[in-house]
Amino acid sequence: RMEVTETFAGIALPGHLHTQESLGFAAAFAFRPTDVLIATYPKSGTTWMQEILTLMFSLGDARPAKTIPNWERAPWLEQIYCREALRDTETPRLLTTHMPAHVLAPALQRSKAKVIYVARNPKDVAVSFYHFHHLAKFLPDPGSFDAFLTQFLEGTVHYGSWFDHVKGWLGQRHLLDILYVTYEELHQDLCGTAQRLSTFLGCPLAPGTLAALEQHCSFAAMRENAMANYSLIPPEIMDHSQGRFMRKGVVGDWRDHFSPQQNALFNQRYQEEMGDVELPTQWPM
Ligand code: PPS
Repeated sequence: RMEVTETFAGIALPGHLHTQESLGFAAAFAFRPTDVLIATYPKSGTTWMQEILTLMFSLGDARPAKTIPNWERAPWLEQIYCREALRDTETPRLLTTHMPAHVLAPALQRSKAKVIYVARNPKDVAVSFYHFHHLAKFLPDPGSFDAFLTQFLEGTVHYGSWFDHVKGWLGQRHLLDILYVTYEELHQDLCGTAQRLSTFLGCPLAPGTLAALEQHCSFAAMRENAMANYSLIPPEIMDHSQGRFMRKGVVGDWRDHFSPQQNALFNQRYQEEMGDVELPTQWPM
């Protein structure tokens, strides 16, 4: 493992991608009114949303999605290469973040930038994140699934607590121009969600865009797209012999991982954390 940890706002982050300088750059970012920011807790549908918005912005032309790596098409605001990646970018800029709301909210509230928050059933997030730790050599060894789940529920994993992340971004609903989308909704109705995105972004869907989305944003297509599946990342950083980034892409895989006891504990923690939270109607749990 090449794990180095950077800590920011009380959260552990991979040190090969983040520095105090890069995190400070994100927190003080000068958003443009035309910027679109994808905000997610890890493993919640980030890569999928990057691909969908790439195709919507290209009016269904698959060339950008097939020739430019997703981290250049939609740079991560908090990562060390962001400043450079944005140097010559035309508007509208597509940006990505895993940062909690309290880090970015002040800069976003000063702007008219649009935010798309993607959430996923946290049980499936935990499973996906656990498997990702095996190939991502920049994350700590996850240990057993049970040990990992304990840390996930405590919020001591990298990127912090899922509960805090979701509650933080839900808390911005009246303060930002923000749309909440779920991974499950993308599964159930990709075209319907694209319509919702199009209305929110004020970006009419070009003829053929829906067909292009169905063709290029399917799990099977993205799994084979080297510009989306992270196969270009060197094995010291992502060891693809330990699993694929595009692992399974299904809803409800937690049922094959959780014991009844783990599920009961998870439900109890979920209730404690989320019981009083007002949730968007299409919420997955
Ligand atoms: S990351 O590392 O935070 O950027 O990961 P993220 O992209 O948020 O989440 C990765 C999971 O999303 C699945 N995925 C998809 N599922 C269905 N359809 C499509 N097109 C798709 N693209 C990515 C990916 O397989 C990861 O989930 P799991 O459950 O591990 O398969």
